[in-house]
Amino acid sequence: MAQFDLSNRGTFGSKFGIIAAAAGSAIGLGNIWRFPYITGQNGGAAFLIVYLFFVFAIGIPVMLSEFVIGRATQRNPFGAFRKLAPGKPWWLVGVLGIGAAFMILAFYGAVGGWTIEYLIQSIGNTFKGKDAAELQIMFNSFLSDPVRPVIWQLLFMAITALIVLSGVEKGIERFAKVLMPVLLVIIIILDIRSVTLPGAREGLEFLFKPDFSKINASVIFEALGQAFFSLSIGMGTLITYGSYIHKKDNLANTAVIVSLADTFIAILAGIAIFPAVFAFNIAPAVEEGLVFVTLPTIFQQLPGGYFFMLLFFVLLIIAALTSSISVLEVVVAFSVEELKIPRKKATLLATAAISVLGVMCALSWGGLSEFKILGTHFFGLLNSTSTKIFLPLGGLLIVLFVGWGYGKSKVKNELSNQGDLRSRLFKLFMFLVRFIAPIAIALVFLNGLGILKF
Ligand code: PFF
Repeated sequence: MAQFDLSNRGTFGSKFGIIAAAAGSAIGLGNIWRFPYITGQNGGAAFLIVYLFFVFAIGIPVMLSEFVIGRATQRNPFGAFRKLAPGKPWWLVGVLGIGAAFMILAFYGAVGGWTIEYLIQSIGNTFKGKDAAELQIMFNSFLSDPVRPVIWQLLFMAITALIVLSGVEKGIERFAKVLMPVLLVIIIILDIRSVTLPGAREGLEFLFKPDFSKINASVIFEALGQAFFSLSIGMGTLITYGSYIHKKDNLANTAVIVSLADTFIAILAGIAIFPAVFAFNIAPAVEEGLVFVTLPTIFQQLPGGYFFMLLFFVLLIIAALTSSISVLEVVVAFSVEELKIPRKKATLLATAAISVLGVMCALSWGGLSEFKILGTHFFGLLNSTSTKIFLPLGGLLIVLFVGWGYGKSKVKNELSNQGDLRSRLFKLFMFLVRFIAPIAIALVFLNGLGILKF
């Protein structure tokens, strides 16, 4: 079989394209569906502060490390580590990443399917006249339906595969460039709607006025997992995207802009949701249903609610797709480059394999609700294990590699585009990847798993 030809690899066409694609990966259901309910469950503002600390002290250094590894090698995560550290077991990070990609896309695709269902319900205006309790019942009965969650999950996966099939620049980049700015505009409209509700203040206080007594090992563990999940780091997604970044682009700027944009959108999502939740007296801890139960309650009581509801679910689907394509791309790039499977076949095979797990997630409240592992259903298991364990573990190994394994001068060369850029914050970056990030991840881990108690 012909050797894989590097000149055939895709690249991102423009600087804005890279930022849009990477931000598209980062900004997704993690910001809009997961961030609000995890924040709600973990005490609001105190959680937000821990989360922000992790984004800056750990998230940005891990993201930049991934870009360095990806662009230096122009390979998928597995191939990248084999190229940079031949004969050493660092390629295992790539294997871990593929595992995480399978787990994440399985439950992500299921939630992607929910957004399709809810868009269709919004079009049909079926929420009309129902209160929060009735909408909770409606959500639960949808989740336990034996067919609909599966059909929509498969449709969501099929759309993801179609975009990935059209290749890096023509598919992913073009898609992200157009849709990410639309997303920002829609969410700002939603925010204005929400903060002008009577009683919005309590929601804003919940989100921004910290009660530090609420911080414990589990809150910290959740915040770390959420930071990794939201930034798309720890499994090689951004190694893969980094491998498509042009040699002349500024990696550090890109990592900072993408992380800020991701954090900004999560906070905007919180501002859209919490004031509204409090204004209508809905408990913020309704778990995975927060967005799907409370927002229809709120929107249908607002002037123009029908229109805002539609916009919201369109937004959620767009955000979900620009993320799901990046997860699938990890598996596809690996299959093409390492297993030498043609891109089209690789995409179809990966999508089919992930969809099998995805169906099990989609059925976690339906046909498979009795199927429990460690006391939790399949969806919950993949959701929490991948984010809290796989991603931080991958991130830990990635920063250890860049901090200690790769070689300081090589890292500096890549970050400065072989000396073309001034790298003012290089020392700070090295300090973070060598000491702060690995020690912090390790401590949160041991503490969160109950192995060490602080
Ligand atoms: N960051 C995405 C979100 O917040 O929705 C989810 C995600 C994408 C996680 C890609 C991990 C990943 F590699």
